[in-house]
Amino acid sequence: MTMTLPVLTIDGPSGSGKGTVSRAVAKALGWHFLDSGAIYRSLAFAALQSGMHLDDEASLAELAVSMDLVFSADDPPQVWLDGIDIALQIGTETVGNAASCVAQIKGVREALLQKQLSFKKPPGLVADGRDMGSVVFKEAPFKVFLTASAEVRAKRRLMQLKDKGHDVNLNGLISEIEQRDRRDLVRTEAPLVRAEGAVLIDSSDLSIDEVIRQVMKVVQSDLDE
Ligand code: C5P
Repeated sequence: MTMTLPVLTIDGPSGSGKGTVSRAVAKALGWHFLDSGAIYRSLAFAALQSGMHLDDEASLAELAVSMDLVFSADDPPQVWLDGIDIALQIGTETVGNAASCVAQIKGVREALLQKQLSFKKPPGLVADGRDMGSVVFKEAPFKVFLTASAEVRAKRRLMQLKDKGHDVNLNGLISEIEQRDRRDLVRTEAPLVRAEGAVLIDSSDLSIDEVIRQVMKVVQSDLDE
């Protein structure tokens, strides 16, 4: 009998708490973790470094396939691009914005698909992103769409960026986040949507622990059977 590997997808806009929650849930379940945003960010970072235009589909797709990207399982994780740790550099809003530019391109998304699918390994996977439940792991048995009000999300991003030592101001950040969210929502290729069957959780007024509890419930009831 073949046992299908369980996958939990957690999609949502930036600042919804996806990253923290996905990592904690993956740890609690003992499953692998995919931060798909970090893959798009790494590509954007590599493209910016090499002076590539962010709409050059052929070059970006080639870079997406050829870049040597390795993630550590630590928390916080290290991300090596061609052997160099870039975890800190890819965390900025500038790279996040560049990521959302390259993420609009069909050839880029196709080129990054295999990298993302390769994270699906026993005993299971928690996949964090924008299109995990709607495209990449469409067949996943567990899906969550995590959101929060724009204000709460901007404040959370501000705290995260400050914690990492980045210099940011709230007004500039709000407009950058709005711009990025709009781009992610209206794009033709794999826009940010609540996947069919995804459980909606609004984290605006919830503590991280409460969100983790609700997400665990989505998976647990089934695993306990
Ligand atoms: O989640 P994170 O903020 O790291 O994602 C950075 C950008 O990468 C997003 O704004 C989005 O444009 C893109 N992305 C995507 N699909 C994913 C994950 C991220 O298009 N699955």
